[in-house]
Amino acid sequence: MSRVVSDIRGAQQDRSGSPPLERCPLPVPFGWFHVAYSEDLKPGELRNVQYFGQEWVQFRTETGEAGMVDPYCPHLGAHIGHGGKVDGDSIRCPFHHWSYDTRGWCTRIPYAKVMPPVTRRQPILRALPVVEQYGIVWAWYHPHGSAPQWEIPAIPELGSDGYIAARRGEWPVNTFIQELGENGVDFAHLKFLHHSPIIPTGECRADGIRWHVNMANGYIVIEQTGPGLQVVRFTKGKVVTTMVSYPTPVSRSRTVMRMSFTHPVYAEDSAEAKLAADMLQEQVGQGAGAEAGFESVDMIVWNNKCYRDSPLLCDGDGEILKWRRYFSQFYVE
Ligand code: FES
Ligand SMILES: [Fe+2]
Repeated sequence: MSRVVSDIRGAQQDRSGSPPLERCPLPVPFGWFHVAYSEDLKPGELRNVQYFGQEWVQFRTETGEAGMVDPYCPHLGAHIGHGGKVDGDSIRCPFHHWSYDTRGWCTRIPYAKVMPPVTRRQPILRALPVVEQYGIVWAWYHPHGSAPQWEIPAIPELGSDGYIAARRGEWPVNTFIQELGENGVDFAHLKFLHHSPIIPTGECRADGIRWHVNMANGYIVIEQTGPGLQVVRFTKGKVVTTMVSYPTPVSRSRTVMRMSFTHPVYAEDSAEAKLAADMLQEQVGQGAGAEAGFESVDMIVWNNKCYRDSPLLCDGDGEILKWRRYFSQFYVE
């Protein structure tokens, strides 16, 4: 007995020499991120949002193009999101009515006889590249402003008919984005935190910006593309249900987690339809049900944990370090 106690003390002493743990020591990664549902940004609308550790102004021009720009006007620094307006295909600063398009080019200075030459050469307001796909506004964030390095992949479940209208959920999480994806390779926690009857086995593979996990012999297959998009498919016989997660960094230490849940339209009252509905309900209940279950169970850990840079792992843990190596390619600092 006394030997066990001294072993535990020994282990604590070994680790106590390291610097104090930080909750969220890693920077915001680069990639495409879900920053709004298209339907929530109407033509002519402008709003202030917080993502990637700063404020941004999101807007939709009267011609229907979505934009996301730095809030501070390059002229004399007014905050365009407070008093600014959408004007045609541009956003107009309230202070002296300089206007900018969705790419950050200055389109108008109403009182200048000669536009400053730089406005002819380059955008002067920082604007994030934005695309709209699957009813989602995606912004490309890179800390150095580098151009997009990949495209949003095909997600048949969101882009075509033949699937039920996706059910959605959204939660703020007080931790950094890498921790959320790490859950998908932390197989042991599924038994102890989520009460899964067994610890599932799984294989993980990195392939450039993509990450694949095959868990429980194909019952759960995860396809991740960059830090901001994860598609999880659950298969039982011929029935497949899909959960798409779009985590977006609000800052280094906060993330907003959005999810869509859907499945193919199966024949009404068929066994497939019943099974799909049950599987989806289980995922939604565990995922979107804010009261109890999947994500809220993870939440108590995520919202309070520290990050162990060199964790002490055992043979039953999943491929946590492989996941971290994959994810590290999206950090530039
Ligand atoms: S500060 Fe924006 S137009 Fe002058
Ligand atoms: Fe979990």
